Amino acid sequence: MSLRLGDKAPDFTADSSLGQINLYEYLGDGWGVLFSHPADYTPVCTTELGRTAALQDEFAKRNTKVLALSVDSAESHRSWIKDINETQHVDVQFPIIADEDRKIAEAYDMIHPNASVNATVRSLFIIGPDKAIKLIITYPASTGRNFVEILRVIDSLQLTAYHSVATPADWKDGEDVVVVPAIKTEDIPAKFPKGFTEIKPYLRLTPQPNK
Ligand code: BEZ
Repeated sequence: MSLRLGDKAPDFTADSSLGQINLYEYLGDGWGVLFSHPADYTPVCTTELGRTAALQDEFAKRNTKVLALSVDSAESHRSWIKDINETQHVDVQFPIIADEDRKIAEAYDMIHPNASVNATVRSLFIIGPDKAIKLIITYPASTGRNFVEILRVIDSLQLTAYHSVATPADWKDGEDVVVVPAIKTEDIPAKFPKGFTEIKPYLRLTPQPNK
């Protein structure tokens, strides 16, 4: 059965471009992004891993560690990283997992046989400090992902984990947020001292509480 939000991320120990890695040990108490790509030495994947490397500091600021994965070998990953660094002008420091026996791909349902019987699709999982899965997205091989959007989701997840708010459409860090319906309007001033705007009884906005 495929994984759903809130499920525990399956732990694994596997070879990678940086040697053997255990997922839970690697993540420690922080957040994680585990994402698969169809294959090494392919054009869209090269840009995706390059973009992720360019954003390494942004992930680190969010206490988030990144792991890429495909069914290619660790040796292939290490050689391909040289190309990524050269062509995308980056320094890939995160591990690329070598899932040659596809055990991890199967545990995370990253192989979609109607798309490809022998390669992972572009799956991405955000994993919280409790090791629960917080986000799942799946893109086809033909569409490279937007990694700024992944950072935006991490910002939302880290904010909403600690405050009774949700983030509206296209929200970006620093913008107003929505007070969750569970909070009664009369209780908002005590909980949100920065004030609030009631647009409708069910739509109450407040400045981002942790800014
Ligand atoms: C790519 O990463 O460029 C790619 C991989 C598999 C199929 C199509 C494109």
